[in-house]
This record gives sequence, structure tokens and C-alpha cells, in this order.
Amino acid sequence: MNTKKKKRIVSGIQPTGNLHIGNYLGAVKNWVELHETYDAFFPIVDLHAITLDFNPVELRKKTLEIAKVLVASGINPQKAPIFVQSDVKAHCELGWILNCVTARMSDLKKMTQFKDKSQKEGSDNATVGLFDYPVLMAADILLYDTELVPVGEDQFQHLELTRTLARRFNKKFGDTFKIPEYFVTKEGKRIMGLDDPIKKMSKSAKSKYNYISLMDSEDEIKKKVMKAVTDSDPTITYKEDRLAVKNLINIYKLLSNKSIKEIEEKYKNKGFKEFKQDLSGIIIDFVLPLQKRINSISDREIEKILEEGAKKATPIAERKIKEIRKKIGFLH
Ligand code: TYM
Repeated sequence: MNTKKKKRIVSGIQPTGNLHIGNYLGAVKNWVELHETYDAFFPIVDLHAITLDFNPVELRKKTLEIAKVLVASGINPQKAPIFVQSDVKAHCELGWILNCVTARMSDLKKMTQFKDKSQKEGSDNATVGLFDYPVLMAADILLYDTELVPVGEDQFQHLELTRTLARRFNKKFGDTFKIPEYFVTKEGKRIMGLDDPIKKMSKSAKSKYNYISLMDSEDEIKKKVMKAVTDSDPTITYKEDRLAVKNLINIYKLLSNKSIKEIEEKYKNKGFKEFKQDLSGIIIDFVLPLQKRINSISDREIEKILEEGAKKATPIAERKIKEIRKKIGFLH
């Protein structure tokens, strides 16, 4: 009998905007693979989603939709609880404690995502929640004694802060938190915008030609891939400085499971038209069956899954918060 304890992984996703293939290839695809062998928890982070302007009806709809995407992608909620972050109250409590005893203004001022996201209104008008967002993310991770966090590269700075906060807490109050590591794949860690390969593919991009949503129609996918920018070199070769082409080959590789060498070989004497036609076919073959599976899950079914997920996550989170409350001198 194998008595070795499985490593714990935790990763969250915001119920905002359109989930795109960057989210899938950078995070969800790895979750699907890892949850088979790790002890995994996947919160849908609604508390994070309210840090920017939001619509309550839309938030509710997206929370259910994202949970359906995770199940339809192949996460078995019996093995890895999927739950709504706000259902497990200890996330907020630990967020507040970390705010007070470990996080510094100077840490948060360095966060590039805050700088990017607050740019629109000017940082003085951004909410305090948006500024404080990474501390709540640290709480999501540390509450579960997480060892591995599968995320895209855009979350590295937040994870580095999580590690710093954990170390500071441990130094002051004794060994309490595990120091988590990140998990990424080379090709998936940063899927770039199809219209601009210098910027990451993003839910909040101005142009819909930036991303391929998991909800896009066949026609939309074809149009977006055919319009994707390339460069002046007509060959299909994978080079670090060919940002646009490298990005398209990465997407091709991750969805077809072909190696980069095989892809280069296949398109040796062919042009981008053929490559893009095949790539859109590969994306369509992935997205349409996924949409079918998403649509086959009812709201009631998914609510039940989320309720059960919260029931599994709560006792683990409660045990940890109890330990923390004791360490910092709270009575109960
Ligand atoms: P979110 O909701 O913006 O994105 C979810 C996941 O998708 C990854 N991702 C990408 N990966 C590759 N290429 C891209 N273009 C791309 N865009 C997004 C993100 O890195 C992420 O892994 N702060 C987090 C949510 C969060 C969290 C957590 C994550 C809250 N608590 C605890 C891990 C652990 C976020 O906003 O992800």
C-alpha cells in the first residue's frame, strides 16, 4: 500500500469576462492533469472578482459558468473540490490577518497587475480591494498548506509575495505556513494576444481579436485565427524572437500534443494560410465538444457540486484558521 501523502495543490480562477484559451492552456489544462495525482482544491474566486466594477447578475452567471467549464474540462469534483471562495469564510479572515501582521504597503505598491488594472481610473480612484487583492490570494493559498500552485506567468509576482508573507509570519509566530512553489509549462505559461504578441492574451482586452474565448463559435474562431498577426518571415519555424509565430505554434502544440519539431516538419514547405487553417481546425475540435459538455450541465447540478466542494474545503480551512488564531493571541 502506498502511504505517501499526496502533495496539495490549490489554484483559483476569477468569474469575470470570457474564459479564453490562455486561461485554459496556462492553468486549467494543468489542473486537469495534476488533480489525478495531487490533492487539489480549485476555488472560483468571487471575492477577487468584486475588486473591479461588476454586475451582480453577471457575477452569479459567471460563477456557475466557470465551475461548469472546470467540470467539462475533465476535473472530477469528487477528487478535487471545486468551490466558491466566498462560501469558505476563512479566506477573508486570513486575508485580514495577513494584511495586519505581514503585508506592507511597500510590497503591494510593487505589484504590476495593480498598476495595470488601476491605470484606467488612476490609482487613487481604484478600490482598496484591488490594491489588497494579492494578500487575499496569499490567503487562498496558505490556508490549505499548499505546496504547488499551477498558474500562468502573470501570477508569479503574486506568488512571490505569498511566499514572502508566509516566511514573515513563520518568523514572527513560529512555523505555520508551507512555502508554496509554482507550476507552469514552458509553452503554456504565457499565451500571448493574437492581435499583439507583446501582450498576454487577456479577458479584458479591448479587441475581441486578442483572444479566443472558450465560448466562441466556429466562425469566430476561424476569423480570429486567420487574422492573427505573424511576421515578415514566411516560414513556420519556432524561434524565441518570433513572438507571434512562437505563440501560434505553442497553442498548436498544446492542443494537438504534437511536438514543436513535428509541427515544424509538417509545415516545412507550406505557408501560413494552411498552418492557420489547420490551427483553427484544432481549436474548433477542442472548443466545440467542450461547449457541448458545458451546456449539458444544469445550474442545479453545478450548484450541488459547489456546495459539496465548500463542505470539503471548509473543515480544512477552519482547522488552519484556528491554529493561526491561537498563534496570534485570539482567545478562541
Ligand atoms: P485569472 O482568473 O486572471 O486567470 C486564471 C488563470 O489563468 C492564467 N492565465 C494565463 N495563462 C497563460 N497565458 C495567459 N494569457 C493567461 N491569462 C491568464 C492565470 O495565470 C491564472 O492561473 N489572481 C488569480 C486568481 C487567484 C489565484 C488564487 C490563483 C486567486 N487566488 C490562488 C492561484 C492561487 C487570477 O486573477 O487569475
